[in-house]
Amino acid sequence: MKAVILSGGLGTRLRPLTINTPKTMVPVLNIPFLEYVIRRLRQHNVSQVVLALNYLPQPIKDYFGNGSRFGIKLNYILEETPLGTAGAIKNAEKFLDETFLVLNGDIFTDLDLTAMIDFHNKKESGVTIALTPVNDPTSYGLVETDVQDRVTRFLEKPSWSQVTTNMINAGTYILETDVLSSIPPQTKFSFEREVFPPLLEQGEPIYAYPSSCYWMDIGTPEKYSQLNEDLLSGRSNQYHSAGQVVIGEQDDIHQTAQISGPVVIGNNCALGQNVRLSGPVVIGQDCKILEGALVEDSIIWGAVGIGAGAVVRRSIIANNCRLGAGSIVEDSVLGDNVTVSEGYKLEPNSRIWPGTRVG
Ligand code: GDD
Ligand code: MG
Repeated sequence: MKAVILSGGLGTRLRPLTINTPKTMVPVLNIPFLEYVIRRLRQHNVSQVVLALNYLPQPIKDYFGNGSRFGIKLNYILEETPLGTAGAIKNAEKFLDETFLVLNGDIFTDLDLTAMIDFHNKKESGVTIALTPVNDPTSYGLVETDVQDRVTRFLEKPSWSQVTTNMINAGTYILETDVLSSIPPQTKFSFEREVFPPLLEQGEPIYAYPSSCYWMDIGTPEKYSQLNEDLLSGRSNQYHSAGQVVIGEQDDIHQTAQISGPVVIGNNCALGQNVRLSGPVVIGQDCKILEGALVEDSIIWGAVGIGAGAVVRRSIIANNCRLGAGSIVEDSVLGDNVTVSEGYKLEPNSRIWPGTRVG
């Protein structure tokens, strides 16, 4: 089977992390998010993947190339202006000559795709949509179904007064190629608002595939942190060292450093005397953490320097940041190349744009 991954969104709610890094390339336990998605597709016998790109395509192409490193054939299709979720698929039509999968590029899930494909075939469905339960459906697409799992109604981003179920569109579809004829070419068009509801009205068989397996979207820094924490603590079946302390190659860790897991440390890192890491913590490649610094419940990307005695709690620090000695960063998100001055306490809940010098 073939799959198209929608990876063209701007990732605005994840800023400042997505100013220089496309949403699909943000590191999860030091591996680009999209790599998990591609590996999972491979496990379910998907042999060809089309990446529908728009914003910041180059880092994605550079990393994944033709896909051979991942045992998959990869093609890229670029939109000059964003065509929306359905427009992007129409744009990839030349690759789609049989039943195919569509994945939102910001979803991490353990969903059993093979079982979902079997369900789609048994029901002779035209469109099958994975559903997942969430606590707050208002930021998602609500999907109502009947007892046979046939979809009866779509409501994208409902207000609380419109919420009738906690089941939402989980961002994985199986589609028959005839769906493509209901999407106009080179036009901004949305599956959720402009394709699925009219198909339903025309009586097309649209089925839902509900599942309560692990599911998380990385739409916001809070959810991105939650995903890292969930993997580290074993809530998904896609990470096999849950609860442990995993140390990279060529790390130089002082014998007095105290590391309480779950923790992942990338390669070529140095941890000085009495450094404390209190998990869940992820440290990227090439980081230097000087004596007495504390990192707790945080995600540090690559080549970050943390000065002596500095404190980082419940924060995300992107590439090449410098935190001065004795500085304090709590509940904040720092973009790439941010410098925090020595001894400075950053206002909690800050979001600092790349290249900024604070303090
Ligand atoms: N190529 C391309 N072009 N991709 C796009 C475009 C576009 O114009 N617009 C959005 N995407 C990609 C995004 O990068 C993301 O991977 C996916 O399509 C969904 O877009 P989001 O902007 O993340 O939508 P959402 O999160 O508000 O809602 C969608 O996902 C929910 C599940 O997380 C909808 O499908 C909801 O119904 C669903 O519940
Ligand atoms: Mg999303």
